[in-house]
Order: sequence, then C-alpha cells, then structure tokens
Amino acid sequence: MSSLHQPIQLGSLTLKNRVFYAPLAGCSDFPFRKMSAKYKPGLMYCEMVKMDAIVRYDTGTFHILDYSPDMHPIGAQLCGSKPSLAKQAAKIVEDLGFDVIDLNCGCPVDKVTKDGSGSGMLKTPQLIGDVLAEIVSSVKIPVTVKIRAGWDDQSINAVEIMKIAEKAGAKAICIHGRTRQQGYKGPANWDYIKACKDEANSILIIGNGDIIDSPSAEKAITQTGCDAVLVARGTMGRPWAVEDILNYSLGLPIHERNLEECRTALYEHFLATKKYHHDHRVCVDMRRIGCWYLKKSSGTRQFRECISRSQSIQDIEDLILNFPLGEMINESNSDEEMNCEC
Ligand SMILES: Cc1cc2nc3c(=O)[nH]c(=O)nc-3n(C[C@H](O)[C@H](O)[C@H](O)COP(=O)(O)O)c2cc1C
Repeated sequence: MSSLHQPIQLGSLTLKNRVFYAPLAGCSDFPFRKMSAKYKPGLMYCEMVKMDAIVRYDTGTFHILDYSPDMHPIGAQLCGSKPSLAKQAAKIVEDLGFDVIDLNCGCPVDKVTKDGSGSGMLKTPQLIGDVLAEIVSSVKIPVTVKIRAGWDDQSINAVEIMKIAEKAGAKAICIHGRTRQQGYKGPANWDYIKACKDEANSILIIGNGDIIDSPSAEKAITQTGCDAVLVARGTMGRPWAVEDILNYSLGLPIHERNLEECRTALYEHFLATKKYHHDHRVCVDMRRIGCWYLKKSSGTRQFRECISRSQSIQDIEDLILNFPLGEMINESNSDEEMNCEC
C-alpha cells in the first residue's frame, strides 16, 4: 500500500490524494477536465497559457482557463519568462479563482523556447527563481513549477533548479524525467526525480514521465520517494486513471473497463465537447479523442478513417453509437495502429 491515496498539504491547500492530472496543450480543455473531474484527481491543471496574453486580456486565452466548480482543486499554468509580466498574470489568474499557479519550464516547442520561455528557462535557472519569486510575492495561492531534467543529457540541472525554486517560495516542483532534447520520446529517467527528492527540504516533489497507470505510479513512488505523481498521456481516453491508481494503492480491485464502457465514456466526452466547442472544432477534436478511448479495439483504424471523413457532428454521433466494436486487444499492440495526433 503506497501513500498515493493519502492527503497532502500544498501550502495552505489540502489535496485529497497525490495523483495529479497534467496540463496538456490542445487536450486538457474544458470537456476533457469535465470528464476528469468525475474521478477526482488530487489536483488538475489547465492547458498552459501565455503570460502576455493574460495581461492583455486576450479572450481566447481566458476561454482556455474556463472551469466549473466540480473541477476544483484546479491549477492554471503560465508560460513566459518576464518577471514583471509573471507578477501581473499571476494576480489576474488568482482573481479568476484558481487554487494553484504553475510556471511552465518544460515546453519543448521551438516557438516557445526561442524567447527563453518553456524549457528555454532551463538554460537560465536563476531567471526561473526570479519569475517564481515575483509570482509568489503577488498571490496568496500556492505556486508550483514544472521542469524537465535538463536541456539535454550534457546539461542536467533539475536539482539546481529545485533548490532555486524552493528558495523562491514554490511549494512543489514537478520533474518530467526527460530532457528537452528528448521531446516526448524515449523513456523518462526517474533517477532525476529521485535526485531532487533526496536533496529537497520543504518543497514537494512531483514525479512525471511514463506514469500511465497503477503499476507505474506505484513504481515511481517506490523508486523515487516522490510526494505525488503527475499523469499526462495516461489520462487521454482514461479519465478514470486516478480511480484505478488509488484503488490499487488501497489494495482494492481495479475496474477494468470493457469496450462498451469505453464507448459510453467516449460518447459522454463527445457530448461535453459538443456543448462547449463550435462544430468544426468538435469534428477536429473527436478524430483524436475517439482514437484514445477506443484504442483497445482492433477496429480502431477503420473507426479513425470513418471519423476523419465525417462531415458533420451527426455523422460523428452516429459513428460513436453504431461503430461495431472489434475484439479487445493488447493496448501496447494497438499503439502503432493508432498513430494518434497527440
Ligand atoms: C499533447 C501534449 C500536450 C502537452 N502540453 C503541456 C502543457 O501545456 N504544459 C506542460 O507543462 N506540459 C505539457 N505536456 C507535457 C506533459 O504534461 C507531461 O509532462 C509529458 O507528457 C510527460 O508525461 P507522460 O510521459 O506521462 O506523458 C504536454 C504533453 C503532450 C503529449
């Protein structure tokens, strides 16, 4: 039995468990979080938003931060590298009612790193401290930061950044055990998470990378001693990931979902998407989302082909409700076939 089901204190905030849901740009939108909220992760994050867009009150950016009361505790993640902007953006986000503010120091995308933001911040550790200190000074809610192990294998600096973040007043640091150079490929190296935990004083260590299900969550906690885990791709099409992980942690049986249950959940996600987004966006999103939920079916490719040809929301609805489900196959075997966009 691990500690994953136990409450944890994040500054003034008591979180009910130690399984958190990651920020996922382009994915963890309002409908995604509506699905996730049913299973009550200890904390969930919205997709990252740019500090400058917040400060200029960009409507689309505020839309990304939409949430409903059932989504608490909820964190907003800011991306940017200017301390003065960070301070203003953090205050605005706090006033929106968020429970936590996170600083993104992990995004690998060139257009983000080129101005020194996202994982570009890993090259300027002291700037991370400066930005965090500004955020911490401007809000009452707890501040967290999400980093990668380092820019590349030759510049691993997670422990150095953890110490800087702790000094700046961050309450937790999430370490994604991959480098920026790795992007999302190759295994995450949890040794870097353990190294941070070994050196941390009061700051909480959140482990991330390849934590996708109950066994990997248990293994990460045991191997690294981290205080909490952040599940990212493991939540796609599996909003119940936290429920499985907590049941396993308590020694309770895990409810293995059959294909009909996956279809029902997909339909629910579709309805939530339809309610929230405009028609074109629903069609685009459902191509990806449909593939997540039905990846255990041997007929997924056919389903995807059909859904990508769908001309209307009605087509998609009919497809989800009437798609003949194939046989249940091993998830890892189906990944090649899936070739999901995310
Ligand atoms: C589609 C996608 C979008 C992501 N968006 C964000 C983001 O907005 N902010 C962030 O800090 N990390 C983002 N990440 C990184 C994840 O939060 C996580 O750190 C990474 O996927 C490693 O965890 P995993 O191996 O369990 O997927 C994203 C990852 C993916 C695949």
